[in-house]
Amino acid sequence: MSGASPPPLRNPVSGATTAVPAFLDARRSIRAFAPGPVPRATLDALVEAACTAPAPHHSRPWRFVLVDTIEAKADLAFAMGERWRTDLAGDGVDDDRIDELVASSYRKIVEAPAIAVGCLTWDGLDRYPDEERRRAEWGMALLSLGCALENLMLAAADDGLASCWVAAPIFCPEVARDALALDPEWLPHAMLLVGRPDPTYVGRRRPAVPLQALRAFR
Ligand SMILES: Cc1cc2nc3c(=O)[nH]c(=O)nc-3n(C[C@H](O)[C@H](O)[C@H](O)COP(=O)(O)O)c2cc1C
Repeated sequence: MSGASPPPLRNPVSGATTAVPAFLDARRSIRAFAPGPVPRATLDALVEAACTAPAPHHSRPWRFVLVDTIEAKADLAFAMGERWRTDLAGDGVDDDRIDELVASSYRKIVEAPAIAVGCLTWDGLDRYPDEERRRAEWGMALLSLGCALENLMLAAADDGLASCWVAAPIFCPEVARDALALDPEWLPHAMLLVGRPDPTYVGRRRPAVPLQALRAFR
C-alpha cells in the first residue's frame, strides 16, 4: 500500500482545508455583538488562556486591561479618536471624512461589550545598552503578545464568544495608556473587542491558502 496521503478536502464555508484543526477554523473576526456584558470571571479565564502563550526567556511581558465600563470605553475611544483625527488631518483627509471615520471608530469601541487591551512592559525582558538589540528584544515581546492575544481569541471562540482585534492602540500607545490611567510601564499595543456574537453577522469568506505563493521549502 502506498504511504501517500489523499489530497486535503476544502471546507466549502471557510475555505480552510481539513488539515486545519477545527478549533483554529472556529475563530473568526466578528465585529457585531449581541447586547449583554461578558462576565468578569469569563474575562479572567480568557486572560489565563492568553498567558499560556510562548514568550522570550520565560518572561510574561504582557498586561491585559479589561475595559467593560461605559466610562472607560468612552475615555479610551475619545482619546484615541482625537489622536487619529490629528493624524488624518496631517494626511490631508477632508474634515467630513475625518468626522465619519472617527465617529465610526468611537461607536465600535463603546458598543463592544468588553475590550481586552493588550499591553507590553519591559518587566522580565533583557535590557541591552544598544538600540539595535533593544529593538529586537521589544520585537520579540511584541511577537509574543500576538501569540497571547491569539490564544485569548481562540479561548473566546471555544466559549462561544465573538472577538475582533482592533489595531488602534499600536499607533498611540501612550494616548491609550493615559486614557485608561494605567501604570506608565504598561503600553497598550492592541485591543480585542469581545462579546456574544450578533447572530445576524455575516463575516467575509475566509480565502483559501495560496501555499505556492506564501511558503518555501529549502
Ligand atoms: C494586528 C492585527 C490588526 C488588526 N486590526 C484590525 C482593525 O483595526 N479593525 C478590524 O476590524 N479588524 C482588524 N484585524 C482583524 C483582521 O481584519 C482579520 O483578522 C482578518 O481580516 C482575517 O479575518 P479572520 O480573523 O476572520 O480570519 C486585525 C488583525 C490583526 C492580527
